[in-house]
Amino acid sequence: MPECFNILVVDDNVNNRITMRALLGRLPNIAMMEAGSGAECLMMTVEHIFHLILLDVQMPEMDGFETALHLQMTERTRNIPIVFVTATLKAEEFSRRGYGLGAVDYLAKPLDDNLLLNRVRLYQSLHEREATLESHARDLQDALDRLRVTQDKLVQSEKLAALSPIVAAVAHELNTPIGNCMTVSSTLDVDIGTLYAAVEKGETLKRSQLLDSLGRARTASQLILRGMFRTAELVSNFKQVAVDHASSQRRTFDLKDIVGGVVMLMNTSLHKTAYRIQVNIPGSLWLDSYPGPIDQIISNLINNSVLHGFEGRKEGLISIEAQEDGDYIRLLYHDDGCGMSDEVKQHVFDPFFTTRLGKGGSGLGMSICYNLVTGLLGGTIEVADGEPSGSLFTILLARKAPLAASP
Ligand SMILES: Nc1ncnc2c1ncn2[C@@H]1O[C@H](COP(=O)(O)OP(=O)(O)OP(=O)(O)O)[C@@H](O)[C@H]1O
Ligand SMILES: [Mg+2]
Repeated sequence: MPECFNILVVDDNVNNRITMRALLGRLPNIAMMEAGSGAECLMMTVEHIFHLILLDVQMPEMDGFETALHLQMTERTRNIPIVFVTATLKAEEFSRRGYGLGAVDYLAKPLDDNLLLNRVRLYQSLHEREATLESHARDLQDALDRLRVTQDKLVQSEKLAALSPIVAAVAHELNTPIGNCMTVSSTLDVDIGTLYAAVEKGETLKRSQLLDSLGRARTASQLILRGMFRTAELVSNFKQVAVDHASSQRRTFDLKDIVGGVVMLMNTSLHKTAYRIQVNIPGSLWLDSYPGPIDQIISNLINNSVLHGFEGRKEGLISIEAQEDGDYIRLLYHDDGCGMSDEVKQHVFDPFFTTRLGKGGSGLGMSICYNLVTGLLGGTIEVADGEPSGSLFTILLARKAPLAASP
């Protein structure tokens, strides 16, 4: 059921108002109120909401024009369509005075019944359409608000969902070396206790017995040391996930020099293998950024190609290219290794995601790279299948890195 269309009829002549009421009564869904003067009209608009005002022009004291002027000046009534009803007003005078006062139309007296009803119906249907549009706009806004809330919730639950495997993986990774250390140190404790008791009691120990005990103690302490090293390494990797902006040195440098430096270093450990690195970077790609983290990213990528991409393969080719791309430099890193499944590609940048769990992989390398590129270096990193095989990393580096957040 559409909203009732409220009309205010303003006329000092009571007979005119009665005629109008009888006429408008023929239309469905209309509520009519009456005002006998301009002042009364203004008062009524304070208390009621009207969708159309039929306003007599000639009235004592405040005439139609003056009343329209007041309506026009008041925020609440400014947009109510006004139709002048007049015996004297002519088209030319209406366009000169009436339009300026916010009136939209005029009807000549004596009123033509059909013309009046048609006009009123027209404004009624305009109002209904406007109301429908407003309600659609409200619905859309509501839907948009709900969508935003849902989106925020999704982001939040994605974060939480990402967190639990991290916690599980940290626990798992740390559990192994810590568990080993505990087993070994409790055996060591028993051994040392026995030895101590024997010496305290003044028992004579054979040299071979003593050597045996000391040998076991030495092996145990070495195992504990190894376990502790591994734990420390894991914790230090873990700490790198939160990139330490303050410790990264910013300067202006040529990308070719930085990549060339890392590749030369990596080549020294690859010289006995048939893995090759091809660099195709033009000189003078200047960046005002952080060379250390870029070095770290390239090393991580090369390590991954060798460890994962080329695993079980005799040969492998890595190619690193770079070109300008507006305010960025586009770095393409490709290896012709085994490539990654869709699932690995989807999670490769997640912290602690590794396909070498328990075999030395902590799954932090790529997530560190991701944090460095998207945070400190102000860029993006994406992974895709290589052509014709292997993996392709596309990295955009801001030529001018954003200003680091205060530590
Ligand atoms: N070049 C590549 N070719 C094939 N698989 C890759 C490559 N780079 C990464 N991966 C896959 O992505 C996973 C995540 O890599 P990431 O560097 O984050 O961890 P990791 O190498 O397993 O461990 P970490 O780097 O912490 O020692 C790897 O375990 C591997 O499965
Ligand atoms: Mg790695």
